[in-house]
Amino acid sequence: MSKLIEGTPLSGRVAVVTGASSGIGAAAAQRLAELGAKVALVARRKDRLDALADQINTAGGTALAVAVDVTDREAVLAGAERIALELGAVDLVFANAGVQLISEIGDLKVDDWDAQIDLNIKGVMNTIQAFVGSLEEAGQAGRTADLITTSSIAATRVLEKFQVYSGTKAYVSHITRLLRTELGRKNVRVSTVEPGMVDTELPDHVTDPDASKLMADLINQIDVLQSADVAETVAFVAALPKHVNLTELTILPTAQAI
Ligand SMILES: NC(=O)c1ccc[n+]([C@@H]2O[C@H](COP(=O)([O-])OP(=O)(O)OC[C@H]3O[C@@H](n4cnc5c(N)ncnc54)[C@H](OP(=O)(O)O)[C@@H]3O)[C@@H](O)[C@H]2O)c1
Repeated sequence: MSKLIEGTPLSGRVAVVTGASSGIGAAAAQRLAELGAKVALVARRKDRLDALADQINTAGGTALAVAVDVTDREAVLAGAERIALELGAVDLVFANAGVQLISEIGDLKVDDWDAQIDLNIKGVMNTIQAFVGSLEEAGQAGRTADLITTSSIAATRVLEKFQVYSGTKAYVSHITRLLRTELGRKNVRVSTVEPGMVDTELPDHVTDPDASKLMADLINQIDVLQSADVAETVAFVAALPKHVNLTELTILPTAQAI
């Protein structure tokens, strides 16, 4: 996607991006930094985070690599402390880390169920726990504050083998709506992005061969989204005037029918 936003509208902002070591999170972190935000890069693969931080810092931006497993609540809290000390008070959170492990319920891949619930639901809640105070302070001090989550089109679609993944993403979409009732009046914007098929590492983790093939085929058959497309959308949400909250965004490849 060509870059639609110009200048440094995010100058002075301090952002946290979870899942910043690849795919949508890496692209969003890079774009938020280009637009002027200082960015904390959160994920588990430290080598990837260090490489992206070097790239952003070399290009004149400010990035801090924070290797944290977001399913570990204490580690997220410790990471948040380090980010506040090294970058300043966080006012933009992109809670994006997630995993998709589709299979039939009858296969009883209970470890995959747990992994999705632990990361897609509890990981998001750990991220919210660590940063909501800082977002509220920013909002109440009159600064722009954003909590943006990555849900999925799977949150609303009925797709075979997607039960647990879709359930976790329905949770993410709905909690994002619900959080607005409390955070909106504290001047914290809350948004969720629900992408369709994006060409990332996400399908690489799927263990069901039919499901992997379905996703790989879709990537080959249609002009799917690229991470940069979603990143530009996230940047747009964050760059809007502070009284404007774009709350729920479905972003699909034009040719994706389901
Ligand atoms: N690709 C799509 O078609 C699509 C569509 C709709 C929604 N989404 C959503 O988009 C989000 C980003 O996924 P993606 O497509 O960009 O796939 P991806 O390239 O696999 O990115 C997933 C990110 O999450 C991080 N992560 C995984 N487990 C983690 C943990 N325990 N703690 C911290 N970080 C963790 C990964 O980094 P580490 O492994 O280094 O920790 C990676 O940076 C997910 O929430 C996904 O559900 C994707």
